Amino acid sequence: MRILAIETSCDDTGAAVLLDGRKILSNVVSSQNSIHQKYGGVVPELASRRHIEMIVPIVTEALKGANLALKEIDGIAVTQGPGLVGSILIGLSFAKSIAFAMAKPLVGVNHVEGHLSAIFLEKNPPRFPFIGLVVSGGHTSLFRVDGFGKYKRLGQTRDDAAGEAFDKVAKLLGLGYPGGPIIDELSKKGNPKAIRFPRPSLSKNSLDFSFSGLKTAVVNYVKSHPEPPERYPEELVRNIVSSFQEAVIDVLVKKTIRAARDQKLKGIVLSGGVAANQHLRQKMKEEASEERLSVYIPSPSFCTDNAAMIGVAGYEYLKRGMRSPLSLNAFSSLPL
Ligand code: KG4
Ligand code: ZN
Repeated sequence: MRILAIETSCDDTGAAVLLDGRKILSNVVSSQNSIHQKYGGVVPELASRRHIEMIVPIVTEALKGANLALKEIDGIAVTQGPGLVGSILIGLSFAKSIAFAMAKPLVGVNHVEGHLSAIFLEKNPPRFPFIGLVVSGGHTSLFRVDGFGKYKRLGQTRDDAAGEAFDKVAKLLGLGYPGGPIIDELSKKGNPKAIRFPRPSLSKNSLDFSFSGLKTAVVNYVKSHPEPPERYPEELVRNIVSSFQEAVIDVLVKKTIRAARDQKLKGIVLSGGVAANQHLRQKMKEEASEERLSVYIPSPSFCTDNAAMIGVAGYEYLKRGMRSPLSLNAFSSLPL
């Protein structure tokens, strides 16, 4: 089964063609970072306008890369939510139009399920059930995953998502957007123990997260400093971001391992843009191996938004005969 997958939930226009939900024939992503950079975050109106410009060239490129004509596609998978409604609507309307015009089966996919499915693009995927951590710009959630379509949410952020915290701290220090990859790089030469930022754990047994207090602690640190951030010596910037990153990672690792222990599961899957973070990948593997747990993390390009992961989940549903009607709508929030 050859599936065309389309993803436009935030600021990346993505299209991919997958064979039997596993083999990537093409996977194209057009990033809008250069557009949103000067605002330090995604501007929804600009994001949807850019999707309109990019959707046809990106889908065309994906089909060309797969060496297939649209009529040779067996089904279409498209992100239906959660995300920015104006952005989702572009990919969704386009997918519905070609499904109608070419009489192809269509299925709407939950973006978070897409992230959790990205690991099946890798060579040695995990067996169900496993613990799935989704950490991105919009989400920080822990799930027990018993199969495609079988998710039990164990915890989620009560305020900011982890990626959002990375982006806000980078903006505060004038480092650029998106903040995650910049902080990841700068932290390598910083001292993670230089500043002891709080590790918000909420109640002892809670698997929920909270990152707004940590963000405020960084804001207060910057305010208490006699100079503005643009005059900080490079070493101070590196130490602030490295200490901040350490606090985020400490909490993510601790709670994910606790979830595995609570659920008596041996496998952990990381996903979402923040799972591209090199220190998080390393620390999760180290601490999990002490507990004899196996950690599975997609390659960084499958962690950040892409259409291939939407194709993996879409395939599972199309294969089972599931179809979405042409009345399919976009949703800013869409629980799994
Ligand atoms: O999954 P994603 O591409 O989009 C959403 O669904 O939100 O995630 C984007 C988020 C951004 O907040 C970005 O700063 C963060 O993932 N991110 C990272 C890294 N790469 C991307 N955070 C930490 N370290 C990274 N290397
Ligand atoms: Zn995402």
